[in-house]
Amino acid sequence: MKLLVTGGAGFIGSNFIRHILQTYPDYVVVNLDKPTYAGNLESLSDVENHPNYRVIFGDITNPADVETAFQSRVDVVVHFAAESHVDKSILNPGVFVHTNVVGTQCLLEYARRYGVQKFVQISTDEVYGTLGQTGNFTEDTPLQPNSPYSASKASADLLVRAYHETFGLPVNITRCSNNYGPYQFPEKLIPLTIIRAMNGQSIPVYGDGLQIRDWLHVDDHCRAIDLVIHHGVAGEIYNIGCNNEWTNIDVVKQILHELNQPDDLIHFVKDRPGHDRRYAMDASKLKRDLGWTPSIGFEKGLADTVQWYLHHDAWWKRVLTGEYRSYLAVQYGERLDGQL
Ligand code: NAD
Ligand code: DAU
Repeated sequence: MKLLVTGGAGFIGSNFIRHILQTYPDYVVVNLDKPTYAGNLESLSDVENHPNYRVIFGDITNPADVETAFQSRVDVVVHFAAESHVDKSILNPGVFVHTNVVGTQCLLEYARRYGVQKFVQISTDEVYGTLGQTGNFTEDTPLQPNSPYSASKASADLLVRAYHETFGLPVNITRCSNNYGPYQFPEKLIPLTIIRAMNGQSIPVYGDGLQIRDWLHVDDHCRAIDLVIHHGVAGEIYNIGCNNEWTNIDVVKQILHELNQPDDLIHFVKDRPGHDRRYAMDASKLKRDLGWTPSIGFEKGLADTVQWYLHHDAWWKRVLTGEYRSYLAVQYGERLDGQL
């Protein structure tokens, strides 16, 4: 099987490519990535010379780049490429619409023209909006996105659905909860906290820190996508999550504990506008129909992730460039007492 993976230089995409090459020695992977600030081909340095792996530098919003990728006659598209950070979508919504909506439609169009066997859209629980204290998102929960990021992902999901209904394109949409694990860019809560705590810097916690996220290890996520590629029924949506709800403040405290750092590094800062209070996924359809079970417990997975960042400082130090520091200045400003 030949897979076109978009956004394979990013966090989940790079872990997914490694998973496929290790699990299926005869599969071929074509990675289409721009890459943006969030894409880092060093995340794939261990497979860059693999005979079944090839990278194409290209933009999913550029039809010529996308056609080049499809000319290599792929069987399946796994579409990760996106602008993925909610805070950045509040600072600059336009690029999220362009990449996540226009880029997805461009890929769908070539997937249709080239007659691929399956198009898997990697979406998010955030398209469902926010939950109160009880209940879970199911695949039937209405879409109520609250940020420009989640609105762009919901829009892309609707285009994927439309290409299935109108053109008969065999699609699946997966919607997962918050991922954590190796190679995550340090703009997201867990790697940002680990790296700042390692350096004894203050940790920005938005609002009261009691927002809840349902954490999923990236390896469990990759195994779920693998099942959807091979066994997902065309046109179906699958939620992915493992009933692992944590408040942000408890996640941060757990990381500080792992690193033997004091809780007084925590700095409560102004809340994110439109901040979703709670996410919780009902993944019973994926478990029942495709036999998925998550295998990595959160305490162990988080401790391993902390160790990974401790032992891969060369990887994350290279991404802490001038651009990253300018982003921290805009996003957190004076709220971190100048500790950017
Ligand atoms: P990421 O930001 O780490 O990686 C995104 C990748 O897409 C990067 O390699 C980037 O260079 C590439 N990209 C961006 N714009 C592009 C363009 N125009 N053309 C080609 N490539 C482009 O993101 P991630 O965290 O790995 O997320 C991957 C996917 O999973 C996204 O679609 C995201 O919405 C979804 N998702 C992520 C999470 C999570 O917790 N990280 C949870 C749910 C869903
Ligand atoms: O739920 C899935 C989504 O998870 C994905 O679709 C997104 O691509 C991914 O970025 C992630 O979105 P979140 O906004 O939930 O993740 P983030 O790591 O940015 O934030 C997690 C929680 O931590 C959220 O409630 C905001 C809070 N937070 C985040 C940062 C960066 C803080 O309190 N302080 C911070 O500095």
